[in-house]
Amino acid sequence: MKPFKSALVIHGGAGAHGPAEERAPRRQAMIAAVKAGAALLRAGGEALDAVIAAVKVLEDHELFNAGYGAVLNTAGRVEADAAVMLARPGGPADGPQAQACRGGPTSAPIGAKVHIGAGAVAAVSRVRHPVELARAVMERTPHLLMAGAGAERLAAQAKITRCRPHELISPRARERWRARIEASAAVIIPSASEQGTVGAVALDWRGTLAAATSTGGVSGKLPGRIGDSAIIGAGVFADLHAAASATGEGEAIMKAALCRQAVQLAGSIGAQNAAERAIRLLAELTGGRAGLVLVSRKGQIGFAHNAQTMEVALLDSGGFARHLWLAPLAGAGPARRRR
Ligand code: GLY
Repeated sequence: MKPFKSALVIHGGAGAHGPAEERAPRRQAMIAAVKAGAALLRAGGEALDAVIAAVKVLEDHELFNAGYGAVLNTAGRVEADAAVMLARPGGPADGPQAQACRGGPTSAPIGAKVHIGAGAVAAVSRVRHPVELARAVMERTPHLLMAGAGAERLAAQAKITRCRPHELISPRARERWRARIEASAAVIIPSASEQGTVGAVALDWRGTLAAATSTGGVSGKLPGRIGDSAIIGAGVFADLHAAASATGEGEAIMKAALCRQAVQLAGSIGAQNAAERAIRLLAELTGGRAGLVLVSRKGQIGFAHNAQTMEVALLDSGGFARHLWLAPLAGAGPARRRR
């Protein structure tokens, strides 16, 4: 088998420009994250391991809106969402989810040439790395999306590090939450303008494509609100064409099924064109602001957004880690906002 050229791109969220003093530490964290994933790919590891390793570095960093440091809901708590998805050539795998799929109405034909796996968690407060719990849903259960206490119980079985809810709350997140409460005593309006949802997409040498996304959601959200990062097809998607991870206004991303849209387009128009087209379609359909990163089966990468800024990190053609602040896509601003 001819090996595929591996590729990895991560994002640290799309939104408003943050404080200038946070730019350097964010950049360092992004570089560390892409290196963590790249080391696994170089050692012959699988795309799924690489995207999870990269996302975990950012879940541990207080400047990113995922894991420790996630934004708080109106009740002052973290409720995190995360998802993973992979498309592995070579046929269906074993495992509870694969078995449930084969027996169910959405089963792949016997002898299918690809294994599609996906797992997601929503509104979890007791795990340091929600992305690991999403993987456990995929690998250990017949389900795809689990929420709250039931998902957290799976963490114990899967030996995933648990924590108390307050251990996810950084002083920075607490301070911002207080400021919001004080500034808007009557109604708190949810905002996705703060950067920080994190995600990664990768292709490994065997041709497996994987994507992972993790977030605390939007600040000012009501308890129980679930965003796009937990929804397959919206905040994350992978098939044999490409893998994608999104960031930005979850409600708009879900309406546009952003990642599914981008992955489908990548098969015909290439990764960068697909990323741009998908963001334009989202803007037209919803008036929302979002961004995404994409990697195709050919190892092409793509990224685009229509927020104020978005940061990505990737391996360049020489194998070096690079960090970029991206300008918004021209002409894809949220001119017509629809609710
Ligand atoms: N994109 C993050 C969220 O809306 O939850």
